[in-house]
Amino acid sequence: MTRSTSHAQGPEQHGAAHHRAHGGGHGHAHTPQDDDTLVAVLDLDAAIFAPYLTGVTARIEELAEDAVTHVVDLGAGTGAGTFALLERFPQARVTAVDSSGSMLALLVGRARAKGLQDRVRTLETDAGAGLGDIEDADLVWASASLHHVDDPAAALAGVRTALRPGGLLAVAEMDGMPRFLPEDAVAGRPGLETRCREALGALHAEQVPHLGADWGTLLTEAGLAVEQERTEAMELRAPLPDGVGDYAHLVLGRIRGALDGRADPVDLDALATLLDGGPADVRHRDDLVVSSTRQLWVARRPADHA
Ligand SMILES: C[S@@+](CC[C@H](N)C(=O)[O-])C[C@H]1O[C@@H](n2cnc3c(N)ncnc32)[C@H](O)[C@@H]1O
Repeated sequence: MTRSTSHAQGPEQHGAAHHRAHGGGHGHAHTPQDDDTLVAVLDLDAAIFAPYLTGVTARIEELAEDAVTHVVDLGAGTGAGTFALLERFPQARVTAVDSSGSMLALLVGRARAKGLQDRVRTLETDAGAGLGDIEDADLVWASASLHHVDDPAAALAGVRTALRPGGLLAVAEMDGMPRFLPEDAVAGRPGLETRCREALGALHAEQVPHLGADWGTLLTEAGLAVEQERTEAMELRAPLPDGVGDYAHLVLGRIRGALDGRADPVDLDALATLLDGGPADVRHRDDLVVSSTRQLWVARRPADHA
């Protein structure tokens, strides 16, 4: 299903959104509550890792050979990338693409609130089905989205078509959700977060098989020339940015929900003590360390004669 809007008309006007079984929820049929949680997680991540995103958009600007006037934000979510790129490229308009109509509606509302509605269009589609009739994109930005598509090769073929010759695709991914807990976060359960992450990894291998894919190889196979590949391991320690406790609470809560019946019940009970508002709750602790590994690939569509 493909629906496009111009100048930030609300995609909600077009009826029910297409939702994929794991659309952003990693591993279970998702509910409106999951959507709310995803929105909060994306917003907190964007705020906490804002300096990283600023650095990435600067790197892309350095690689862009010509003026960037049309950006496609593939799997735009709440618009972290859309708004960062509008700021980075003041001459650009953004087409925000997402399979979730509710995400696009939220993004459109935010564009209006910022007075940026004239620079934002939306396209509601499954990225695996191509990017509509776009063929003039100077930049396609795909952050934490490509691993969701069923057929990355089909999605990348669509991206190649959407890019003008010489245009750039930037793929930003992370190695899973950030980690937060010290080894001894719960007395008597050392290594709790490591075991939960391992169990989550097994679940993702079944349900989100392209998470952790070798995007460099996939981009090359799609006929794009990889110009930059970077891995950054980040660690945030006290004094932590605002929102880290809430972020940890949301992320660990999602992990606990996903692992119900799939991890040691004693570990799940221990995890619950970090979420229940009691003295060990992650929202009250001063010993959290946020660790996150982020990867970036930037590839160019070669000139047609190349
Ligand atoms: C984890 S969020 C990332 C959002 C945003 N790019 C960011 O980095 O904050 C993934 C987004 O991709 C969207 N998505 C998932 N599968 C998709 C697909 N097949 N086609 C288009 N969008 C998809 C989801 O609806 C969600 O908004």
